[in-house]
Amino acid sequence: MIPVPAMRDELGALGVVEKDSPFPFPIKRVYFLYDVPAEAVRGSHAHKALHQLIIAVAGSFRVELDDGRTRTDFQLSSPAQGLAVPPGYWRTLHDFSAGSAALVLASEEYDPSDYIRDYDVFVEWATRG
Ligand code: TYD
Repeated sequence: MIPVPAMRDELGALGVVEKDSPFPFPIKRVYFLYDVPAEAVRGSHAHKALHQLIIAVAGSFRVELDDGRTRTDFQLSSPAQGLAVPPGYWRTLHDFSAGSAALVLASEEYDPSDYIRDYDVFVEWATRG
């Protein structure tokens, strides 16, 4: 989890993410998840090369990261923090609160061939020599 700088005054808050701050990869794509039903589980895949930063810009949700051996569950509930997800993690996003939105900053353009969508294939790939 890394801090996302914000300018706050009596008119509200403005969060900023830009190249090299607060994370060291060039952003090639931005996408966002919203209107996600509370019972939905998003993700359920890994990326071979893609770096991402995930920010709960509204509401809250949980992100489970699995490196093929260990699982860690992160609660994202503040626009002032981002979860950096390097390549090689199986991720699931779940427990979305009503009205929540996930902003995802990504290091590469959309590339279906970068996805691993089969969990057994992922574990084999992640734990190879
Ligand atoms: P997917 O990556 O499976 O979403 P999630 O991991 O949040 O469940 O993508 C859902 C759909 O959107 C799928 O048909 C691919 C498409 N998509 C794009 O066209 N461009 C993108 O940048 C992304 C992330 C997804």
